[in-house]
This record gives sequence, structure tokens and C-alpha cells, in this order.
Amino acid sequence: MGGCSFFKSARPLELKDPFRYMAPEGDMRHQVLKRLADEIESLGLEGDIAELGVFRGRFARKIRKLFPGRTFYLFDTFEGFDDGQLALESEKFPHIKADYISQAFKDTSVEAVLAEIGDVEHSRPMEARL
Ligand SMILES: C[S@@+](CC[C@H](N)C(=O)[O-])C[C@H]1O[C@@H](n2cnc3c(N)ncnc32)[C@H](O)[C@@H]1O
Repeated sequence: MGGCSFFKSARPLELKDPFRYMAPEGDMRHQVLKRLADEIESLGLEGDIAELGVFRGRFARKIRKLFPGRTFYLFDTFEGFDDGQLALESEKFPHIKADYISQAFKDTSVEAVLAEIGDVEHSRPMEARL
């Protein structure tokens, strides 16, 4: 009885890179970022920029392009999540397998991020657990 069999039988996705599908090019985040950049530009606001959680720098590259020449602080552990964070992430994303999350953000480094962004002079990698 009842119409919930689909949900009851739902299993965690086994996509190779589930996060890829959460941030496609041209998605809402990019549009919001562009609007923010335009606003900041039109107000003549000065200052540095930062991203908290850069992983391999894919989104940081977008930020970099919209704010050329500003010092850019790039925060990340550069080694993925610890056990406490893993538990929180698994709660937030129950549809993604826990063992995927545990490995998900390990595959990065300061060098990889700088190579992706391509502006070493104004980049400040900040290895930290926030
Ligand atoms: C989903 S990725 C974000 C990637 C990037 N913002 C993008 O959209 O392309 C999250 C990143 O934040 C890092 N991270 C998550 N919690 C963190 C914390 N408390 N301190 C430092 N880094 C953290 C992870 O290690 C991972 O590299």
C-alpha cells in the first residue's frame, strides 16, 4: 500500500563524480557570482578576495577571472575531510555514498589549485581546517 515504494527503494547514487553534476558551467552559482562582481565593481569597492573550500580550484578560477589583480586567499585542508566533517557531510548528502565522500576531496594540492587558477602572483593558498 501507499505510494512511497520509489523512495523506499532509492539507493545511494554510484556516479563516478556526483559533485560534478551539482555545479555545471553556467549554473546559478556562476550567475550570482557574476552579479556580485558587477555590483562590487559598480560600487568601486576595493579589497582582497577569498574562497573557503577551493578543492581543485575550478570555481576559484571563475572568481579569479571576475576579480583580476586582487589578492586571492584560497582556504582548504588540501586533504579532504576529517571524521567529524565526514559525518556531517553524510547527513547533508544521504544520497551520496559515505565512502565516496571520504575520498572525495583528497585528490588535490596547492600546486594543482595554483595551476588551475593560473595567477600565482596574487594567490595565497591557506592550508587550514576552518
Ligand atoms: C565541494 S568542495 C568545493 C569546491 C569549490 N568551492 C568549487 O565549487 O569548485 C569543498 C572543499 O572544501 C574543503 N573543506 C570543507 N570543509 C572545510 C573546512 N572546515 N576547512 C577547510 N576546508 C574545508 C574540502 O576539503 C573541499 O576541498
